[in-house]
Amino acid sequence: MSSAAPHGPVTTRREGDVTLILVDSPPVNALSQAVRAGLLEAVKAAAADAGVKAIVLACEGRTFIAGADIREFGKPPLAPGLSEVLSAIESCAKPVVAAIHGTALGGGFEVALSCHGRIADKGAAVGLPEVKLGIIPGAGGTQRTPRLAGPVAALEMISSGKPVKAAQAKAMGLLDSVASGDLRAEAITLARALSGKPLRRTGELAVPAFDHAAFNKVAATVIGKARGQLSPVRAVEAVRLATTTAIGEGLAAERAIFTELVGSDQAKALRYAFFSEREVQRVPHLEGVSPRKVETVGVIGAGTMGAGIAVSLLDAGLRVTVVETSTAAVGAGWDRIAGLYARALKSGRIDEAGKDERLSRLTVSEDFGDLAGCDLVIEAAFEEMGVKKEIFGRLGAVAQAVAVLATNTSYLDVNEIAQASGRPADVIGLHFFSPANIMRLVEVVEGAASAPDAVATGVALARRLGKLPVTCGVCDGFVGNRILATWRQITDFALEDGALPAEVDAALEGYGMAMGPFAVADLAGLDIGAARRKRLAPTRDPKARYGGTVADRLCALGRFGQKTGAGYYRYVDGKRQVDPEVTAIVQSVSAELGRPREPFDPDRLVRQVRAAMANEGAKILAEKIVPRALDIDMVLLHGYGFPAWRGGPMFEADLVGLPTILADMREIHAAFGHGWEPAELLVELAGSGGSFGSHQRSG
Ligand code: CAA
Repeated sequence: MSSAAPHGPVTTRREGDVTLILVDSPPVNALSQAVRAGLLEAVKAAAADAGVKAIVLACEGRTFIAGADIREFGKPPLAPGLSEVLSAIESCAKPVVAAIHGTALGGGFEVALSCHGRIADKGAAVGLPEVKLGIIPGAGGTQRTPRLAGPVAALEMISSGKPVKAAQAKAMGLLDSVASGDLRAEAITLARALSGKPLRRTGELAVPAFDHAAFNKVAATVIGKARGQLSPVRAVEAVRLATTTAIGEGLAAERAIFTELVGSDQAKALRYAFFSEREVQRVPHLEGVSPRKVETVGVIGAGTMGAGIAVSLLDAGLRVTVVETSTAAVGAGWDRIAGLYARALKSGRIDEAGKDERLSRLTVSEDFGDLAGCDLVIEAAFEEMGVKKEIFGRLGAVAQAVAVLATNTSYLDVNEIAQASGRPADVIGLHFFSPANIMRLVEVVEGAASAPDAVATGVALARRLGKLPVTCGVCDGFVGNRILATWRQITDFALEDGALPAEVDAALEGYGMAMGPFAVADLAGLDIGAARRKRLAPTRDPKARYGGTVADRLCALGRFGQKTGAGYYRYVDGKRQVDPEVTAIVQSVSAELGRPREPFDPDRLVRQVRAAMANEGAKILAEKIVPRALDIDMVLLHGYGFPAWRGGPMFEADLVGLPTILADMREIHAAFGHGWEPAELLVELAGSGGSFGSHQRSG
């Protein structure tokens, strides 16, 4: 018998003496007000029905409840609250069993924790990802998880936000069993088996004995790694409370922390980042454009970039033909790709069979003609216009007519490269980030002549690789490297004006960047920046301040970064150390340039970097290189280690207020002169009370 419950997304069905409560609220069964109300009513009705012995809670669609409805955060709360629903479930006199498929996340997992039994599909995962949204679990997650899994495992799970697979969750004590066949049938059997017995209510369990030193160690690591982000630190506090207070007190304290965090700027920024990550993949002008078919992909060049790209393609199940220029380079290329798989094997990410299967789809060849059968070719050769044009000239002739031809250039003019191919409509940029098999961002560059379906093919391919494609137009450095080049100049000026590399790096790591810019430069190699300075030298405006003297001096000494054991730092046994020689170089450059060395002000530097990023972003928007501010933010978050909890430079600028950013830009202009004028769009929006976010909506 099936009967619709009063609230649409939740229905109930009787299976003999068991009530099956079904949530059906696409796409991910989030706990909207309607779902909460429906659940509460359905549980109460089943509890009151004398013919019902037990209850099973399951979901339709692709997943179990994936959490609170994030769109409701920051709005006035609507009754019933989730805690009320959970306490109705936990205190129910009849057993309630959660049947989990897909992912039980956040509030969804908290629903399951309040049930008296939990069973999951083999492929399911459970988790408490709240810290990634700038909050902590708000409905018992921090108090009930330690009672089942112990405080140490609970702390690891909650502070990382990482989901755990069903088998591991079972081993941790979070699940009663993993279904071997029909999930719902097995859940009903479990529910019947629990009926008539004393119920195991998670909230009533004692926290198991645990290793206090291990707990403190995890807590210290979490706090040490938070770098300004509040939610993991507050998660530690909440889980610790579970070990020292009774459940009621713990739940109230957890709720208070949740309420405090949910309205914070960090939580707003992380919610924006969550939705923008999805929105950025909807490219307005490509809507309805079908991508071309791609099964075989060519890669030109098997250096670090080419090998990483090849691995990414192979991992996604594609056939890959890599072309190199000599027998020796073919051998080295094969070894590089196989080496990446050997590492994946060692770390347990793939097994031997998986490695062999992937390599069986790989051809490394010396014959450029082997690219003829490819549906898409990615050029990852040396970053030099002459080289790229020569390659695209040949590629235009060799590649089949339907093929998309992509360049992985980081800075060069895609339009010029496209013209060299003789078929510019087929040419796009696919700018991967190093290491290409790991980094998620891909800038899909649309040239002036690129056919929409060629661009759509690039977007579709990047998605197939599990990457985040951000579509943009042609300009020097595209979105990410253009913004990077701008704010890096500010950090270069800082060295000349009184700072040392370690001070600048510490300031920006304090701001939340994953790594300071000079440590990054050492990692990437100083030769990259040197090549760019050389390329831009002929067109450099003589009136603009040049900040590259320190870097030029280091390169002249062969200090190209980690690979040479020295750059902005020196490396002893792979460990970064401050190098007095660099201090001396920096000081002598200041003296030569006649720049007085002032005491370093880290806050001022951070303000300048923040303003410079937003200012360059404003120019990128005005030039229509991307249509929306969120495109810029997603590039910075996913390719450049910008702290997600700040949302991105454009979001943060809106939050800080554009008049403040404009005032900072005016200060920068006064300090650094020509080329540092505030962008017109920034001036306009700051004057009209607008924001980059609203510009994105109207423009
Ligand atoms: N609230 C509102 N909308 C959500 C949502 C949520 N919790 N989770 C996903 N969505 C939306 C997405 O925005 C997307 O919408 P569009 O199609 O309009 O873009 C749609 O659902 C599908 O999402 P995905 O594209 O991400 O689908 P997927 O299959 O790749 O991934 C998922 C599914 C793993 C559930 C993923 O969406 C996810 O991780 N969601 C967030 C889960 C989460 O963080 N839950 C905790 C919320 S906080 C909480 O629960 C606290 C509390 O109780 C008090």
